[in-house]
Amino acid sequence: LCEQTDCNRVVDVGSGQGHLTRFLSFGLGLSVTAIDADPTLVAMASKFDGQLVWALEKEKQKKAVVKKSILGVIKKSKPINKN
Ligand SMILES: C[S@@+](CC[C@H](N)C(=O)[O-])C[C@H]1O[C@@H](n2cnc3c(N)ncnc32)[C@H](O)[C@@H]1O
Repeated sequence: LCEQTDCNRVVDVGSGQGHLTRFLSFGLGLSVTAIDADPTLVAMASKFDGQLVWALEKEKQKKAVVKKSILGVIKKSKPINKN
């Protein structure tokens, strides 16, 4: 729907624990404002958001370490002499 209407902002009314919100935001890159009447669900949504951000950051750091070690191996290896 956002592609068809050239829109990138969404208001998720009745967002509950924020499952749809997180998918639209982290999965599709949309700017999402989530609203829910139940403070317990809002707190849970915030907790899940935090866990997702933490997991994504951890994954990013892991990839950076792998990239760094690959670059280290490439730098240390000698060029192959074909003669
Ligand atoms: C079936 S749940 C929605 C689940 C959520 N969209 C998801 O993806 O996980 C419906 C939600 O609407 C919220 N709600 C109901 N009436 C509301 C109102 N007037 N204003 C804000 N939220 C409301 C409820 O608290 C409940 O969390």
